[in-house]
Amino acid sequence: MTKKHIIAFDQGTTSTRAIIFNDLGEICGVAQKELTQHYPKSGWVEHDPLEIFMHQQEVLEEVLKTSGLRIEEVAAIGITNQRETTVVWDKTTGKPIYNAIVWLDKRTTKICEHLKSKGLDEYVSKHTGLVIDSYFSGTKLKWILDHVEGAREKAINGDLLFGTIDTWLIWKFTNGAKHVTDHSNASRTMLYNIIDLDWDDTLLKAMDIPKSVLPQVQYSSSDFGNINYQGYDIPIYGVAGDQQASLFGQGGYTSGIAKNTYGTGCFMLLNTGKKPYKSKNGLLTTLCCSLPEDNIKYALEGSIFVGGASVQWLRDKLQIIDNASETEAICKSTPTSDELYVVPAFAGLGAPYWDMEAKGAIYGLTLDSGKNEIIKATIEALAYQTRDVLEAMVEDSGKQMKELKVDGGASANNYLMQFQSDILNVAVDRPKMLEVTAMGAAFLAGIKAGIWTKKDISKIRTIDTIFTPEITAHERSRKYTGWQQAVARTKTVNK
Ligand code: G3P
Repeated sequence: MTKKHIIAFDQGTTSTRAIIFNDLGEICGVAQKELTQHYPKSGWVEHDPLEIFMHQQEVLEEVLKTSGLRIEEVAAIGITNQRETTVVWDKTTGKPIYNAIVWLDKRTTKICEHLKSKGLDEYVSKHTGLVIDSYFSGTKLKWILDHVEGAREKAINGDLLFGTIDTWLIWKFTNGAKHVTDHSNASRTMLYNIIDLDWDDTLLKAMDIPKSVLPQVQYSSSDFGNINYQGYDIPIYGVAGDQQASLFGQGGYTSGIAKNTYGTGCFMLLNTGKKPYKSKNGLLTTLCCSLPEDNIKYALEGSIFVGGASVQWLRDKLQIIDNASETEAICKSTPTSDELYVVPAFAGLGAPYWDMEAKGAIYGLTLDSGKNEIIKATIEALAYQTRDVLEAMVEDSGKQMKELKVDGGASANNYLMQFQSDILNVAVDRPKMLEVTAMGAAFLAGIKAGIWTKKDISKIRTIDTIFTPEITAHERSRKYTGWQQAVARTKTVNK
């Protein structure tokens, strides 16, 4: 029996999936379950860690059943996950002491203000590559230790463990044998020193976090322990945060390659190679997927908090669409209204503005603005936000971008991709297979299992469409200026 298949677990913000890839990089099966979102208070977002683990087990079972693949044919598992989302659990009972606090959650803005008032901005930027923001795990972990009765004491006694979703899943699947994470996930905690590659004592002290709760950090393509499935041990050979995994899956393991993923948020990453670039324009410096045989590589990242989530808002809150796939036809058939802008600051504004207090807004409504105009302006906001971060990236890296590789759900929308190219004045390269995040995790595992080498990634990736700019420079500038004015009116800081 040859072991030539890899299973990728893709645990995202809104769903939990298992995808089987064969050695040609083709998908042989997908199983998916929606994840319940909990909003206990305004600005708070939580997930149930036990539901996540249960769903991950269920989709594994389902994908094996529906694909007809035998477990003996699986060489390894790769895990990719929503980043920053924070879980704390009891080492003995294996039970979370609080729900997972999701990356979108804003409850720790006050803790962030306090850290800023202690003058830690520069320190955080220099050592972690991040900005002080409620987005990252550090202040979420501090909040749990501060607010759950007896938690800090237990943590000091070594009875509690912290992890992002990768760490939680690995710990559960290995029955507590492994408390580990990888470089890409660690770099999103605001507790990890990305230059020394170690947990940062100064920040742990500033947030009063005992070191004993932290996982051990490994290369993204390495041995993370075994999952025992019906008596067979399947090794977990790949782990990465979802945005770094998709950069890897797009072939972005060398410097100069950039990608944008349109998921719940939108995340643009540019591999800058061995040298960490310090952004002057509100971008983050983060660790790429790491391989033991390679140098550590850095990326510049522009994190946009609300991308596909705004399409969900159209569907679930405004209830003006039934399905995200309707938006392409609506955008194409709705006349362009240059004056209407939706600024989806539903979770504050991320890169390059970092405004935790900003709220969503619509500008330019007239009596002839109907639901279709709002839908179109919401879709276009994904492209405008992407231009905001691309401008920052070009300025920081000093390199003009020639093309942008794209993936994620909304990249299937042809109107959006054309509009994206128009607004950026850059070619947009969409691959045939859009499950690039899962593919990235599968590659990490498959490389360690000896199925692929890094070079195979570019051979397996095939282009579906390259969108090239079609509008005039004047039109582009008029549209984008309108967007910038709308953002300026939305911001609460540096007005
Ligand atoms: O940093 C948050 C990011 O990892 C979430 O990704 O795919 O769930 O939108 P996604």
